[in-house]
Amino acid sequence: MKIAIYPGSFDPITNGHLDILERAVKLFDKVIITIAKNPSKAPMFTEEERRSLIEACVRKYTNVEVDSFDGLLVEYARTKRATSLVRGLRAISDFEYELQMALMNRKLDGNIETVFLMPNEKYTYLNSSIVREIARLGGDVSGFVPKPVLQALQRKRKRTS
Ligand code: PNS
Repeated sequence: MKIAIYPGSFDPITNGHLDILERAVKLFDKVIITIAKNPSKAPMFTEEERRSLIEACVRKYTNVEVDSFDGLLVEYARTKRATSLVRGLRAISDFEYELQMALMNRKLDGNIETVFLMPNEKYTYLNSSIVREIARLGGDVSGFVPKPVLQALQRKRKRTS
């Protein structure tokens, strides 16, 4: 059974993440989409909120699990018996950071391979922080995020305005 981990902050999950997931589920028997608990970041959505938003978006898949982790990603992957890490690569600008992480993870565990997947080019410019900023400023992000996330962003905005 080929198990892959798709890690990230997912604050919040976007259509770009879902595009990568859609590709990953075709390549692996099981994909665990997992939220990194990063105490040094101040996310817009709590871990629980991010988790339930992801859950709402992945119901259609039978081979996707949603989880969260802290500590080293490769250690987490080992506990899940995963042999691959999935990361999205949108543009050259992603490459340096992603290469650094992939090579470091390989140093930490040579049995775990990072697999880069390219999203549809319409998501090249899309990332969670841009979505958060546009939503905070009242812009329309309906083309960039799934419906549950759009509604959650609207609720956040109402609460803070
Ligand atoms: O969505 P992001 O913020 O780009 O995801 C980054 C993430 C969570 C994949 C990365 O920060 C990570 O793997 N964190 C776990 C800690 C770890 O293992 N660090 C060493 C990797 S080089």
